[in-house]
Amino acid sequence: MTTALVTGASRGIGRALAQTLASYGHDVVLVARDADALSRVGRELGNRYGVKVSALPADLAARDDLTVVAEAAATADILVNNAGAALGAPFSRTAWDGDRNNENSMLALNVTAPTRLIHAALPRMRERGFGRILNIGSVAGTGPVWAASTYGPSKAYLLGLTQSLALSSEIRASNVRLTCLVLGHAVSEFHEKAGLPPSPRMLTLPTRFVADTAVRAIHRRRPPIVYIPGVRYKVLNFLLAHVPGGLTRIPGLVTDLSIVEK
Ligand SMILES: NC(=O)c1ccc[n+]([C@@H]2O[C@H](COP(=O)([O-])OP(=O)(O)OC[C@H]3O[C@@H](n4cnc5c(N)ncnc54)[C@H](OP(=O)(O)O)[C@@H]3O)[C@@H](O)[C@H]2O)c1
Repeated sequence: MTTALVTGASRGIGRALAQTLASYGHDVVLVARDADALSRVGRELGNRYGVKVSALPADLAARDDLTVVAEAAATADILVNNAGAALGAPFSRTAWDGDRNNENSMLALNVTAPTRLIHAALPRMRERGFGRILNIGSVAGTGPVWAASTYGPSKAYLLGLTQSLALSSEIRASNVRLTCLVLGHAVSEFHEKAGLPPSPRMLTLPTRFVADTAVRAIHRRRPPIVYIPGVRYKVLNFLLAHVPGGLTRIPGLVTDLSIVEK
């Protein structure tokens, strides 16, 4: 029996990913801060798919909690680094520290936490001769479509980390595979929680579609290192890589937080 650890599994894309992984017969460890929501998701998945589900409430931006989750990640066969957040204010006006919604916590969540969990998970995966790591990145990490924000750069790091590790000879020689899901707008509470305007409807992907295609991708015999769900985003990503400056002048494509906030 294989175990998948999914961060940010209390709602949104993480919850859908946990559900799809359970439907494939994996036991699941659910991580997020909201313990009640995790218990609800856990009960639902256990009843529906008959797999073992455990809830691990934790704040991944807090060092001690991250240590506990890293211990759990060390025994996982599949690690899904999904938890992530953005700040709905321009860089010039965000707080550095504080209780919530500050640069330090966001970078701890989007950058330090996935790095630490991958670092914890890889040794045992390599020893066992099997492992899959799915990192949830963003189109904002592949081009300048978010101005005045560290969110895009944090996702660029996750994409770079995935590629750097996946292309190393020690990983290529093992049966451990890393994939970065480069995601466009998807239905969730992401924008609302960050205080950002809602996603444009035309460009918003259904959560179930994102979860199903991503989980299918990591179950391929040769999982892709970069996976972009949705044809429109495949095209957009190609264009961003080749004509980033010109593209970002298209009205509605760039979210410029220094304008949004005024
Ligand atoms: N939705 C989009 O349009 C979109 C586009 C591109 C990329 N993404 C990426 O997709 C991923 C999933 O986001 P989503 O759209 O599903 O957003 P969401 O609905 O806001 O869900 C975020 C999840 O992360 C958890 N989380 C947030 N802060 C946490 C912390 N400090 N410690 C532990 N867990 C934490 C939340 O649970 P608790 O609040 O219970 O902790 C929740 O389960 C993120 O990495 C996001 O950057 C989303």
